[in-house]
Amino acid sequence: MVQKIALFNHKGGVGKTTTTFNLGWMLATKGKKVILVDADPQCNLTEMVLGSSTKEDIEEIYKKEQNIKSGLAPAFESRPKLIEAVDCLPVEGCDGLLLLPGHVGFAEYEITLAIAQQLGSSIQTLQNLPGSISYLLQKTADKFKADYILIDMSPNLSSINQNLMMTSDFFILPTTPDLFSVMAIDSLAKILPKWYAWAQKASEMRILKDADYPFPKVTPRLLGTIVQNYRIRNGNAAKSFQDWIDDIEVAVSARLGPSLQKNNMLLTDEMYASQAVESDFCLAQISDFNSLIAKSQKKQTPVFALTSKQIGQNGRVLKTTLEAQKNFKNTFDELADRVIGLTCNAVSN
Ligand SMILES: Nc1ncnc2c1ncn2[C@@H]1O[C@H](COP(=O)(O)OP(=O)(O)OP(=O)(O)O)[C@@H](O)[C@H]1O
Ligand SMILES: [Mg+2]
Repeated sequence: MVQKIALFNHKGGVGKTTTTFNLGWMLATKGKKVILVDADPQCNLTEMVLGSSTKEDIEEIYKKEQNIKSGLAPAFESRPKLIEAVDCLPVEGCDGLLLLPGHVGFAEYEITLAIAQQLGSSIQTLQNLPGSISYLLQKTADKFKADYILIDMSPNLSSINQNLMMTSDFFILPTTPDLFSVMAIDSLAKILPKWYAWAQKASEMRILKDADYPFPKVTPRLLGTIVQNYRIRNGNAAKSFQDWIDDIEVAVSARLGPSLQKNNMLLTDEMYASQAVESDFCLAQISDFNSLIAKSQKKQTPVFALTSKQIGQNGRVLKTTLEAQKNFKNTFDELADRVIGLTCNAVSN
């Protein structure tokens, strides 16, 4: 059974896209079949996978309807056919990893979905929309026998994000060590329970149950947070960053965690403990990739999978970069193991 994991934070630039790509690649390296879903109209993930020199390729995937917007068009554009699985693209260099590309026009569906999701309005013609995204992802997962779907989301509190979050089995919250991430965590502590209450009601509504694409009853659960992109000094986070890392830990353990707990949106203490996830729910701390991120984007390859040739350095500089790369590989290796451990345990419970 596929596990849907949303990577969400309405704060922008916290590493959602980068982590979706790197984590998905590492899960696939471990033998899992993974579909990366680009649900952000910015289409950063699609460009990260395909490279920026592929304008024709992107036009081709729009034309061939190999993207999230075209996949949903039967529901959103009232076409007389059912939604079908999207023909995902294989990600070059990584067996078992697929991309469901994004579309810059995906945001055009936002307003219609927002109206459809207003529970007071039981307009018959809109009843198929709230369950359609989940249906599309499930159909696509079935077609490719996927173990995981990782959803890269846009940085906002849109109805599309509300829908994607509340129909996912799990979510990961990427953060960067700064004031804005702390503020975002505090606002999510208030918003996620409201979204969850909406989803519970939606799943009980007759009109949405009777739809061609019924709105599913799912309880999304927090796998954990990731703190990313800080400077290192003498092997540890530099003091100014460490202070914000500490503040994020407090915001998550004292405010977000209890709020999710009240709404049943956490796993059990035993499950977190089995993967050595502590009360701050931190799954991984990932420091600044430095020059590796530039190479990673140029070569459409995660930082940890770049070859020495791709890195293109020599002598001592290369040696230092390879050492850093080894650490990043370990970090992503552990992160992927934790994700597998937490999601497997959740299924068996
Ligand atoms: N560990 C890291 N070290 C250095 N740079 C990083 C790291 N993680 C992410 N970045 C860079 O930070 C920027 C933001 O990352 P990314 O695009 O993944 O964030 P995002 O949350 O998806 O952003 P958005 O909210 O706009 O979708 C990018 O330029 C990315 O290359
Ligand atoms: Mg992004």
